[in-house]
Amino acid sequence: MSEIEFRSVSKSFGTKQVLKNLSFRIHPGECFTILGPSGCGKTIAVRLIAGFETPDRGIIRIGSTIVADGSKGYALPPENRNIGVVFQDYAVWPHMNVLENVLYPLRMQKVPKEEALQRARAAIKQVNMDGLEERLPYQLSGGQQQRVALARALVSKPAILLLDEPLSNLDANLREEMRFEIKELQKSTNSTLLYVTHDQEVALAISDRIAVMNEKGEFQQVGTPEEVYDQPANPFVFRFLGIANFIPVYVKEGKTFLTSNKKEFLPLPTKVQREDGIQAENLLAACRPMEVELSRTTGPLEGKVVRKALLGPIIDYRIDLGGTIVRAQLQTEEGSRKNLIFEEGDSCGVTFSRLLWFPRNGEGEGTHG
Ligand SMILES: Nc1ncnc2c1ncn2[C@@H]1O[C@H](COP(=O)(O)OP(=O)(O)OP(=O)(O)O)[C@@H](O)[C@H]1O
Ligand SMILES: [Mg+2]
Repeated sequence: MSEIEFRSVSKSFGTKQVLKNLSFRIHPGECFTILGPSGCGKTIAVRLIAGFETPDRGIIRIGSTIVADGSKGYALPPENRNIGVVFQDYAVWPHMNVLENVLYPLRMQKVPKEEALQRARAAIKQVNMDGLEERLPYQLSGGQQQRVALARALVSKPAILLLDEPLSNLDANLREEMRFEIKELQKSTNSTLLYVTHDQEVALAISDRIAVMNEKGEFQQVGTPEEVYDQPANPFVFRFLGIANFIPVYVKEGKTFLTSNKKEFLPLPTKVQREDGIQAENLLAACRPMEVELSRTTGPLEGKVVRKALLGPIIDYRIDLGGTIVRAQLQTEEGSRKNLIFEEGDSCGVTFSRLLWFPRNGEGEGTHG
């Protein structure tokens, strides 16, 4: 168990600034996820902690040790950091079979042979690879290689585990199974876990806290999965955590009007003005597709079904709300039971079980996801 701290860390490549003045702490024994789009700097953050990159400015601390100090150009070598890493490209040794790959870190640590074998076999079993110990990497699928890399990172029971998209090559079932395994392993070993991904489902499922990073490598919000999901700090966070509807509106005399056709939308809740202190004239009303409720009676808001897609247990509609398209989803079973199966071209009433309100600063509109 070790704390990890970034103190005003900056990192550039040539003229490209990837991280700028980034500060955060990962508590001992915590599962902390950096969630962000491709290219935002997640792998660089992992490489900085592991010691494969040196910060230009700022300090990185692990436990009581400063492992990198940009101002001094100092970095502790990776092998002295007691960190288990699974990189995105899960580089396993091509000339070693599965068992030898997993044994490797224990050999380096000079763990006695019998104990090493026992631990390696246990780690291989944990990732569902038992029976394949003799195979060489070229005889394994991408997902299997990824699991070898995971077993190799886990086997030495490191104080810190860094996992960079470790499940990207697994099929949906195995991915779900493995994320529970990872969580269990982390709990049982008490290691501090940094997980980086662009998959919001994994992040929500395994994290104690999530940091949502934008394209500029800036943290937009750090909080528990419930906090970032239920109380997103801004439209970026909301959009990154699931399919998002954004309805641009403007405010006039306590009422809101759709920007797209100037028709009246909904009254602005007084709570929004009072507690959230949103003064802007232009707002985004945001909601998830499941929070859009359709009805047979039209009004006060009327929509038109422009697309219907049956996704098994869910029906997914695109609804034209006077020039703004929103996505609505309902359970197929509920739809049949309540006579809410609409066809393309039908009119319907639209209400919302919940709306979030954000000031609008030129962010996207309509539906994202
Ligand atoms: N060695 C390098 N030289 C120049 N630019 C680099 C180097 N390594 C990373 N970058 C740039 O830094 C930025 C962040 O890269 P990084 O690999 O951290 O992204 P990421 O968030 O891990 O993305 P992904 O989700 O696609 O893996 C990218 O714009 C990338 O092109
Ligand atoms: Mg990456």
